[in-house]
Amino acid sequence: MNGIRLVYLNGQFLPPETARVSVFDRGFVFGDGVYEVIPVFGGRLFRLPQHLARLDASLREIRLANPLNPAQWGEVFARLVREQGGGDLSIYLQITRGVAPRDHAFPPNVAPTVFAYAQPLKYPSAEQLAQGVAAVTCSDIRWLRCDIKAIALLANALLRQEAIDQGAAEAILLRDGCVTEGAASNIFVVKHGRLVTPPKGPYILPGVTRDLVLELARAHGVACAEETVHEEALFGADEVWLTSSTREVLPVTRLNNKPVGSGRPGPMHARMLALYLAYKQSFREGAVD
Ligand code: PDD
Repeated sequence: MNGIRLVYLNGQFLPPETARVSVFDRGFVFGDGVYEVIPVFGGRLFRLPQHLARLDASLREIRLANPLNPAQWGEVFARLVREQGGGDLSIYLQITRGVAPRDHAFPPNVAPTVFAYAQPLKYPSAEQLAQGVAAVTCSDIRWLRCDIKAIALLANALLRQEAIDQGAAEAILLRDGCVTEGAASNIFVVKHGRLVTPPKGPYILPGVTRDLVLELARAHGVACAEETVHEEALFGADEVWLTSSTREVLPVTRLNNKPVGSGRPGPMHARMLALYLAYKQSFREGAVD
């Protein structure tokens, strides 16, 4: 199971082959749940408070109480990381509304299903970082609450597959002529040395990597803004990047089969990636939280 040694399920640590969830789980039947993906560098959970805050926000929006407090989550993560041998991992966790007879209305007094595991982190390849990746634009066919990290990802899966079918690594989504985000990433564009990413709101997931890139840009005097990105600005950008916990800061060098800017990863990407990697290194060494 992709090198996963142990999973956490409802208070137990189990080999993945033996972990079982009911077919009446509302996650299975309705996609009624939320999730998080948290990167682990050198055995330490990166930006954990931010991921737990976003989890709380997702749970609040779907009206589900967090089944574990931060200390309990910390114990679960520590055991999963230890069992995987530490190093660079990604933690996946999901919480669903639990097991109940199929009825759209919330079931009363049902315990949520809580599931988590850690797996080896798959970085973008050296080639992807050196050459950049291709992306295609797609109409954002998702719902109006993309700020909730919901497990119901059918639209995102269709969109990512559409990109792959066109030989691209990501779909960049457009709603009413404006960029929202990627199928599983946030989007930055660069024009004349200034970074721009769409503002937070109901149409995008508030990415933890996105926020870190903005934080690092501001701390190092790199011009940046959270502003609406019209499709013309996307197509006319000098550079386009996508960010996520697993893809980090990845340059998009082809968009709809045309080169982005020079067609090579740009100087602003080199600068931001260097700042990101330096921050990650200090995190590994325990110099930053
Ligand atoms: N996805 N937008 C969407 C729709 C996402 O699914 C993700 C991440 C992001 C980036 O968020 P962050 O920087 O916090 O990872 C933005 C994860 C990695 C996934 O679904 O696997």
